[in-house]
Amino acid sequence: MPKLISIMNVVGARPNFMKVAPLMREYARHLERIAPFLVHTGQHYDDDMSSIFFSELKIPKPDVSFGVGSGSHATQTARIMQESETLMIRQRPDLVLVVGDVNSTLAATLVAAKLHIPVAHVEAGLRSYDRTMPEELNRIVTDSLSDILFTTSRDANVNLRKEGVEESKIHFVGNTMIDTVNMMKPYLGTSTIARDLHLDHGQYVYMTLHRPSNVDDLATLAGICDALLELQNHIRIVWSLHPRTRKMLQTFDLLLRLERAQNITLYEPVSYLNSLSLMSNAAFVLTDSGGIQEETTVFGVPCLTLRENTERPITVSEGTNEVIGSSRARILDCSLRLLQGERKAGRVPELWDGNASERIVEVLLGGSWK
Ligand code: UD1
Repeated sequence: MPKLISIMNVVGARPNFMKVAPLMREYARHLERIAPFLVHTGQHYDDDMSSIFFSELKIPKPDVSFGVGSGSHATQTARIMQESETLMIRQRPDLVLVVGDVNSTLAATLVAAKLHIPVAHVEAGLRSYDRTMPEELNRIVTDSLSDILFTTSRDANVNLRKEGVEESKIHFVGNTMIDTVNMMKPYLGTSTIARDLHLDHGQYVYMTLHRPSNVDDLATLAGICDALLELQNHIRIVWSLHPRTRKMLQTFDLLLRLERAQNITLYEPVSYLNSLSLMSNAAFVLTDSGGIQEETTVFGVPCLTLRENTERPITVSEGTNEVIGSSRARILDCSLRLLQGERKAGRVPELWDGNASERIVEVLLGGSWK
C-alpha cells in the first residue's frame, strides 16, 4: 500500500479560491492516496471577498484559518509567515501547495522552504517583467523556491528555463481556474445579476479595477474616471468595486461624480458566478485583473487591460485581450473602436480544457518530486 501523501494547501485572497477549488475536488477522488489540508490565511476576509467563494465553489471549510487581515506588505507577509511556521512545524506535511501570486503565496512558500518541506506552485512562471508590481516579486521568489512548478502556458516554461529552473521540475498542465470556469458554465443561467441590474446582453461594459498602480495614484485614477464619464455617453458601465478601489475613490473625492453619472452602475464585489455572468454577456470588459484577462479569453469576449504589461501574454497572442495602459485617451479610443465592431478574434489556449487539476494530481501522485 503506498504511503498517504499529506498536502497542505494555502489560500488567502480572492483570486486563489477559484484556483484551489478544482484541486480540492480532485483530491477528494483520491483520498486513499492523498490527505488534503486547507489553510486560509485571512488575507481577504470580507464575506463578498472570501466566504461567498467557498460556498459557491463548494470548497471545503478550511481546516485552519489564520485571520491575519489587512496590513502593509511586510506586516501581512510576516503575520502569515509566523502562523504558517507554527502550523507547518506541528503538522509536518509532505508537501505545501500554493497558487497564484499573492502575499499568502509568498509567505507560505518561504516558510515551507526553510523547513525543507517541498513546495508545489500552481500558476508558476508567469512574468510581467515589471518589478514595481508586488505580485511580480511574489512570483519570482515563489518560483525560485518551489520544487514542482505547474504552468498554465508554454511561455511560462520558457521564463522558468531562462531563470535556470531544472526542466524536471516544470510541468505544463493547463489552467485550474479554467477548470472552475467550465464547472460553472452550466449554472450561468441561474445568476440573476443581469436581470437585477436590468442589463441587456452585449449592451454594457463590465469593469473591475484594483491594482495599486491604477487606484493608489490620483492622476491615474482621475484619468480613468474621466474616460468612464465620457464612455457612459455611449454605453452603460457596470463597475464591481474592490474595497481598496472604493476607499481610494473616496479619498480622492472621485466617488460622488461616478455615483451621479446616469449610465454608470457602481456595485459591490460580485460572487464568482455573477462575475462570470457579467463578463460573458458584456460588450467588452475593462479590467486590470489577471484572472479576468484569462476568463474573457475563454468566453471570447473582448478585454481591454488597463496596464502597461501583462504576465499572461497568451491572452493577447491567442486570446481576446489587449493591453492598453491607463490613459484617458487610450481607454476611450480603444473602447469606441470596439463599439464600432472592430473586434479581434481569439481562441482558447492549449490545455485550458477543464482538466488541469487532474493533471496536477497525477504528477503529485507520480511522486517524482520526493
Ligand atoms: C490582493 C493581491 C492581488 C490580487 C488581489 C485580488 C497581493 C500583493 N495582492 O490585492 O494580487 O489581485 O488581492 O483582490 O497579495 N480589503 C477589504 N476586505 C478584504 C480584503 C481587502 O476591505 O476582504 C481592503 C483593505 O482595505 C486592504 C485592501 O483592501 O488594505 C487591500 O487588500 P490586500 O489583500 O492587501 O491587497 P489587494 O489589493 O486585495
